[in-house]
Amino acid sequence: MLQATQKTKIVFDNVKKTYPAVRGGGNQIVAIGELQLAIHESEIFSIVGPTGCGKSTALNLIAGFEFPTEGDIALDGAPVRGPGPDRAVVFQHPALYPWFNVLDNVTIGVKSRGVPKDEYLSRAHNLLRAVGLAGFEKSYPYQLSGGMQQRVQIARALISNPRVLLMDEPFGALDYQTRIIMQQLLLELWDEFRPTIFFITHDVAEAVFISDRVGVMTRRPGRLKSLVKVPMPKPRKLDMLRQADFTEIEHQVLGLIQEELVYLQNQNKAPVA
Ligand SMILES: Nc1ncnc2c1ncn2[C@@H]1O[C@H](COP(=O)(O)OP(=O)(O)OP(=O)(O)O)[C@@H](O)[C@H]1O
Ligand SMILES: [Mg+2]
Repeated sequence: MLQATQKTKIVFDNVKKTYPAVRGGGNQIVAIGELQLAIHESEIFSIVGPTGCGKSTALNLIAGFEFPTEGDIALDGAPVRGPGPDRAVVFQHPALYPWFNVLDNVTIGVKSRGVPKDEYLSRAHNLLRAVGLAGFEKSYPYQLSGGMQQRVQIARALISNPRVLLMDEPFGALDYQTRIIMQQLLLELWDEFRPTIFFITHDVAEAVFISDRVGVMTRRPGRLKSLVKVPMPKPRKLDMLRQADFTEIEHQVLGLIQEELVYLQNQNKAPVA
């Protein structure tokens, strides 16, 4: 049930996504079977589910990189027609330009859109401070750790003040300790800028720790299997990871994913007719 103050930001209305068969053979792939989902303004919403269930496809639909085969996807009540500066995407592997320094990597997009220099420079410096990279403006990507590179990508994503942040396993390649630091950083940035965050992860503890709600998808063709609310207030502290009410939600989500995995394993074992 939506609270009166919660505005709907993103709506998947009976979305189905089929990829055509590749030329020369193969079948078409139904990536998303049917997705019905409303995401609130300034919500942190995570998606978990088996590999290949359509999570990245759902993100690409919001980003406007792909379009539904059936149904509609709406942002602020209007259909998504393509990518736009109101939505920023952060991928698992930071796609930084190796020949640009940190500051140039962060500002390249806004610079090319004609934003005045003093405006984007002061915002870039503020963001680099916010992500803990003050003093690294002149460093090149090869001089940074994986976590630092991911911080650059996040600063770059936030520089145009997007109202929607789309994150596809953004911390998946990082070690445990760095990942925890990045999760906390993300919560701090959310507190400051309050974007709507659509976050894909395979790490259930991560999903529960950062999110207001976790959407569990079924095996492909992906549908929403369950919506799990995480009622703990934000800001969230690290010790939450060990609290009973937190681990209870974590186990609930794990159980839902395991149901899908067990089904897939049994299917693989079934004798071929
Ligand atoms: N551009 C594409 N063309 C054809 N098939 C695609 C394309 N993108 C994805 N698919 C297929 O659609 C299905 C869903 O893919 P998707 O990348 O959305 O899954 P995912 O849930 O993000 O998986 P993972 O957890 O492994 O990242 C897969 O079977 C994939 O092979
Ligand atoms: Mg994916």
